[in-house]
Amino acid sequence: MLPSQGTLFAAALVAVHCLSHVAAEPHAENPIITPAPTPTQAFAARQVAGGSGTPILSTLTFPYTALPSQVYPFPVLRGPQFGYNQCGVANASATANCQTLVINNASDFCLWGSPDPNGDIGDVEAKVVSYCTNPEWGGRPIPAGSIHGLQFMRTSAYIQIVGFIDNTALGLGPTDQGGELDPHGADLQGNPLGGVVYSLDTNFSPDGGKTPGQVHNWNLFVGGGVFCVKACFNSITSPDYCQNVYDLVALLVGCEFNMPNALQNGTYLDCEGDLQTPVGIYVTNGQTLTWSMPDPLTTDPPYTPVTPSSSQCTTFSSQQLFAGGSAGASSSGPGPTSAGASPNSSGGGVTSGAKTGSGTNPSATGNSRALASANLPTGGLLVVVGSFFAGATMLF
Ligand SMILES: *[C@@H]1O[C@H](CO)[C@@H](O)[C@H](O)[C@H]1NC(C)=O
Ligand SMILES: *[C@@H]1O[C@H](CO)[C@@H](O)[C@H](O)[C@H]1NC(C)=O
Ligand SMILES: *[C@@H]1O[C@H](CO)[C@@H](O)[C@H](O)[C@H]1NC(C)=O
Ligand SMILES: *[C@@H]1O[C@H](CO)[C@@H](O)[C@H](O)[C@H]1NC(C)=O
Repeated sequence: MLPSQGTLFAAALVAVHCLSHVAAEPHAENPIITPAPTPTQAFAARQVAGGSGTPILSTLTFPYTALPSQVYPFPVLRGPQFGYNQCGVANASATANCQTLVINNASDFCLWGSPDPNGDIGDVEAKVVSYCTNPEWGGRPIPAGSIHGLQFMRTSAYIQIVGFIDNTALGLGPTDQGGELDPHGADLQGNPLGGVVYSLDTNFSPDGGKTPGQVHNWNLFVGGGVFCVKACFNSITSPDYCQNVYDLVALLVGCEFNMPNALQNGTYLDCEGDLQTPVGIYVTNGQTLTWSMPDPLTTDPPYTPVTPSSSQCTTFSSQQLFAGGSAGASSSGPGPTSAGASPNSSGGGVTSGAKTGSGTNPSATGNSRALASANLPTGGLLVVVGSFFAGATMLF
């Protein structure tokens, strides 16, 4: 459950994105992560980003089989990108720097993670790389047994996967509360820069599921022992179910707010689902209201998101989903069970009850709160991540 209204956030306002690495020059090894621009600066950046030679990332279209080696090779703004986009099974490895992410179904998906060991999303958001359950997509392997529960859901407007995962499986430090990645960013070049997302799902694939098709609108939260990723169908632009403006509410709350779900620890589900209410819209006293998230966020969100119903859930074991891939153990289990009595929308979900954390002192590394994974199933953690850089995306 979410904290009751009126309760002040005790959660730390941890600025995972609030970095002013006034580093040397933009360099592929270490893309500069800038502080939030002023509206004027953001507008200027947008002009530059849309200018000749620096197209806006989310507007670019590439067939999967015709991706350039780098979508964003430009040494301007935060560029060039850190890794590459031509990824394949031949170069899948623990050191791969693939920045093409594929999300297909409950057993076959990639997530963004840190290229550096013990990474902090706030530090590496511009250069995250793909970690995959399936080597086919050229990412780093998601290690066996690191996913502790998952719900894949297909709706009429998007596919979504939410799960519990060890931070370390994605190169993140154990206490990193993470953050949000999307194809926008203050300069509209995406986090990661040059990051592109594809899916074999027939809603995206140009040939009925043989070749991955591009996902233009997506968002993804990782960190704090949780992940959630949503790929919105290109054909549906309104309402926007993949908004990136609620990214200050990160992690548990980020997943709960942006992708309300029926996730349960130890349970692996493949479901159909109803559409969620677009993020920020809620009904109170018969009135439909829209919440715009203040920046910085200093009060509780005014509503508890409604978890959409899920149906036709198939329950898997971890072994069934990941035996053939990187994630999960190797023994095989019993066949999938059908979902007569499987968890539905009231059965669980990444919800948060207890709040913890301290202070309002933005710090890129100030994750001094208890490790979320220790608290997820019961009390939960409500952690607000003051994401100043990503917050700039609110301007768009
Ligand atoms: C990765 O492998 C694919 C073929 O599977 C190849 O096209 C691509 O160039 C390779 N990328 C790198 C960076 O080696
Ligand atoms: C996911 O898709 C792959 C093909 O890409 C298929 O082999 C696998 O069985 C699917 N898994 C689930 C759980 O649907
Ligand atoms: C969840 O399952 C319970 C028991 O099967 C059922 O009573 C309830 O209506 C279901 N809720 C939703 C939202 O599907
Ligand atoms: C899931 O359950 C296992 C076993 O009960 C526990 O060790 C683990 O901490 C739990 N993980 C999460 C994310 O709640």
